[in-house]
Amino acid sequence: MAEPSSIHIPVNLADYTPPVFQVETVELEFDLHPAATLVRSRLRLHRHAAGQLHLNGRKLKLREILLDGEPLGDNLYSLDPSGLTVFEVPDEFTLETLVEINPAENTELSGLYMSGSGFFTQCEPEGFRKITFFPDRPDVMARYRVRMSADAKRFPVLLSNGNKLAEGEEYGRHWAEWEDPHPKPSYLFALVAADLVAVKDEFTTRSGRHVDLGIWVERGDETRCGHAMASLKRAMLWDEDTFGLEYDLDVFNIAAVSDFNAGAMENKGLNIFNTAYVLASSATATDTDFQNVERVIAHEYFHNWTGDRVTCRDWFQLSLKEGLTVFRDQEYMADQFSAAVKRIADVRLLRATQFRDDAGPLAHPVRPASYLEINNFYTTTIYEKGAEVVRMYRTLMGREAFRHGMEIYIRDNDNSAATVEDFFNAMQAAVPEHNIWQIMRWYEQAGTPEVTAEETYDPASRSFTLTLRQTTKPTPGQDEKHPFLMPVAIGLLDAEGRDLLSETLLFHKAEQSFVFADIDQPAAVSLFRGFSAPIKLKGQSRERLAFLAAKDTDLFNRWDALQQYATAVLLEAVAAHQDGQVFRLDDGLLEAIAATLREAPRDPAFTAEALLLPAESLLADEMGVVDPDAIHAVREATRAALGEALRDRLNSTYWEYGKVDPADHSGPAMGARALKNATLAYLAASGDASRAWEQFNNTGNMTDRLAALTQLADLPGEKRDTALTSFYETWRNTPLVLDKWFSVQARANAADTLERVQALTRHEAFELRNPNRVRSLIGAFSANQAKFHNASGAGYRLLGDMVLRLDETNPQIAARLVSGLSSWRRFDTARQDLMRAELERILAREGLSSNTYEMASKALG
Ligand code: PHE
Ligand code: ZN
Repeated sequence: MAEPSSIHIPVNLADYTPPVFQVETVELEFDLHPAATLVRSRLRLHRHAAGQLHLNGRKLKLREILLDGEPLGDNLYSLDPSGLTVFEVPDEFTLETLVEINPAENTELSGLYMSGSGFFTQCEPEGFRKITFFPDRPDVMARYRVRMSADAKRFPVLLSNGNKLAEGEEYGRHWAEWEDPHPKPSYLFALVAADLVAVKDEFTTRSGRHVDLGIWVERGDETRCGHAMASLKRAMLWDEDTFGLEYDLDVFNIAAVSDFNAGAMENKGLNIFNTAYVLASSATATDTDFQNVERVIAHEYFHNWTGDRVTCRDWFQLSLKEGLTVFRDQEYMADQFSAAVKRIADVRLLRATQFRDDAGPLAHPVRPASYLEINNFYTTTIYEKGAEVVRMYRTLMGREAFRHGMEIYIRDNDNSAATVEDFFNAMQAAVPEHNIWQIMRWYEQAGTPEVTAEETYDPASRSFTLTLRQTTKPTPGQDEKHPFLMPVAIGLLDAEGRDLLSETLLFHKAEQSFVFADIDQPAAVSLFRGFSAPIKLKGQSRERLAFLAAKDTDLFNRWDALQQYATAVLLEAVAAHQDGQVFRLDDGLLEAIAATLREAPRDPAFTAEALLLPAESLLADEMGVVDPDAIHAVREATRAALGEALRDRLNSTYWEYGKVDPADHSGPAMGARALKNATLAYLAASGDASRAWEQFNNTGNMTDRLAALTQLADLPGEKRDTALTSFYETWRNTPLVLDKWFSVQARANAADTLERVQALTRHEAFELRNPNRVRSLIGAFSANQAKFHNASGAGYRLLGDMVLRLDETNPQIAARLVSGLSSWRRFDTARQDLMRAELERILAREGLSSNTYEMASKALG
């Protein structure tokens, strides 16, 4: 095996030092040609601290270098694979370089690359160094002026950050000049030169600034931009109303690109989006897609203040912008639709991904202390757990104080690069009467705390005592954990489910008792309402859960109680299954699901969520040794038995909610479709796929079509094959829809899923170069627990093969896939051996990227 560890050097938070030179202004000139682009850069630099001038640079061919206009002799600078060092420079000077790069060969999709009809950039976190020599770190903020020239026919649209100053054309090439008045870090630089068309609109901010809005897409896609544009305007208005934050340029452009490693990017004044988060129409996008477009449009727009105007000092602070901006987009979405349903969806995601990571070898704090490759740290811990921490601030402080804290944060850090401490200080300043320092532990300690509750009632004094205990298991590098500060939103309920009392407790010790005086004995306590802290609540009795599932006034906890109840029931059935016992449906679960269905008219969207049983992966997280086959068998048997037992009610619900206008994407319409399709899934699970077949053939709405196809894909046979073929024929030229065709097969419950996925990796439409396609097949398959963990190990091998192939062209995407193997310790020894063997095979590859090396070596432990 190669010995790569010596060449992979970690970066540590503790080693942070301020930049030696600051850059005041940047002038860039791009002479764009696919295989040989010239980039001239003029930097105005001044000394900030003692030390040498080092500029980052990767895969750049240096053509010229001048200092204050004079060519620099060979002995006055040196080049190495990480960049350029210039010796003996004055304290203030201009450095000019000319480099050549090759966008056509850039398959990593960071830096300047080609996709579809043109040139696009992606600079966060360290892509700018692949464009030109620069101190490529977020605490170097400069003003940018950009000139680009390109073939006028092939690349008619030329965009960059800020405002356009001038443009012109000569001899078949045209040029444009852009200027961004706001100082920004290099990771927010963007350039687009492509054959795109714009959908245009405008917005006037509340102080009267007129903003031209443009969404730039490939010809033919203009018809699918309406939802993105409407979402953008709603988000702009919402940020003014909610946080008093207005847009600060005269232009806001969004350009869509189909090859993109992430979801979207908040470059100042020129967001670049994965097409998946821009394009939507009822024929091509599901309701979930519509919501994702709205969420991501809002997220990137909100970054204009939390990210761009106030940026991060270094990448360890990543959650400072991401956790905060996710929190902001969650609040925005909660205001557009149902707050409870949004909260349920967010917690579902947190548990399925973040809790899982936090319990395994890849666990890291919201502010990590060390990394090999920062690209590996765009995780649900940084994003979603980071958002939970911001939410806890708000719960602790109250809405008004939190908004005040946000004002202080923006005011004190505007146009600068901030830290997690700066955010804390702003929030603390807004509640001077409270000491909230202990919340900082959420940034420092990884792991999900487990909380248990004990209750005692003293009839003599009519006092009720609640004792809470918290523990957190060790995570890599952190054996000892200190108690966290958590807001505990609680309610004491009487037998009818009325709130005797509801308040928020501050729980900050390993063990803490809270006494409530003058109170009748509660029938039940509802804890962590609305998921007021990202913890696992343990040891609730089944009776209690059943009561809360039926009666809690907090809708989130009502949903959660049913989930926990179902989890307990399913785990018990898994144990019975392993014992060779025959499956029997739990009466309590049947009653709870029946009651949920009966209450559908109250809130169809909520009902749809409540009907969904806990995912197989969540059940796995609760087992000592995961048995993916038993989990799958039991969960499917439960769904089938419920579908059977509730057939009439499911049928009538299906028809009642079946008549939604296919073009309506309002909250109520989406809720109705979700409920209808939840009933469809139960009916299909119980063996009745006729409804799915009907629905598939009689709808033009993608939510309904895909929901039906999902059911058909589970059942091998002629109907499945016909449906898949017709879907493919219809959508083979629409990449985002074709992605769905791949993922529906990768997620299928069918006995032949593994073989089909193997075959699909050789399908003519499968492209390794396109991250969406890779995610839709390989990402989706590795999340299909029962199929991926096939006892033969063939699923692991498929993933290992893909990781190794991708590592050669796009290490960021390759590294992300590795996490599918990180849970090996949770399985039986046979599977452990097979999974470890794949990790070892990956690590043995010579020339492995540090991205994949970091993930595979940490996963192996
Ligand atoms: N900063 C982007 C976001 O969350 C994500 C991103 C990271 C995009 C890295 C590209 C590369 O909004
Ligand atoms: Zn973000």
